[in-house]
Amino acid sequence: MGRQFFVGGNFKANGTKQSVSSIIDNLNKSNLPSEVEVVICPPSLYLDLAVHENKQKTVSIGAQNVFNKSCGAFTGEICAEQLLDLNINWTLTGHSERRTIIKESDEFIAEKTKYALDKGLSVILCIGETLDERKQNITLDVCARQLDAVSKIIKDWSKIVVAYEPVWAIGTGLAATPDDAEETHKGIRDHLRKTIGEDQAEKIRILYGGSVNGKNAKDFKDKANVDGFLVGGASLKPEFVDIIKSRL
Ligand code: PGA
Repeated sequence: MGRQFFVGGNFKANGTKQSVSSIIDNLNKSNLPSEVEVVICPPSLYLDLAVHENKQKTVSIGAQNVFNKSCGAFTGEICAEQLLDLNINWTLTGHSERRTIIKESDEFIAEKTKYALDKGLSVILCIGETLDERKQNITLDVCARQLDAVSKIIKDWSKIVVAYEPVWAIGTGLAATPDDAEETHKGIRDHLRKTIGEDQAEKIRILYGGSVNGKNAKDFKDKANVDGFLVGGASLKPEFVDIIKSRL
């Protein structure tokens, strides 16, 4: 069974009304392949603008973050109900910049993921090891720990896409090699086979993220367990379209 190729764009805290509009305008003008699912995640302030300006059927708009509770007295947070109110159907959870800088725990990320799914959102769940953990040879242990926090409280993974993003590859220009990514993705899928079952593990898409660009995206083409990408810096540039087309 083929897994649909998926490309996510994580704008992080970058951009202005004008630059977000121009990225979307560029996507609108592009001849995007109908078989590729694309989700772009602009800063929350520009989500509404993005929903209104996006004209591509294969492109959805996603948030970069969501809270683990309903709307209420949670200063600065974004609740799932508000995202749905704007017709946003996707969110990221667990991005390493939130795990490491804001110190979100595995459990908190799992709770946010569960709350988002319960409300009807789809989730790009990010996992991955730091350079130090890589050097200690515990990459798969770290990924397993991050995934297990989620599988402990979530049984249905049909609306989750996993993004494997080694922290040392994010924003550094030093992407994992396609062979290294494939080896880790396979390890992640094998782990999921044991925890969420053969069928769900086979169906789930596992994206690679970390310094993906318009040139190196093609190098991952023949990797059986790399089902797409989560793209940071290059999602702000016209080469994002080359990444979307990298499997053609
Ligand atoms: P990058 O970021 O493509 O700029 O390395 C990826 C990410 O953090 O999602």
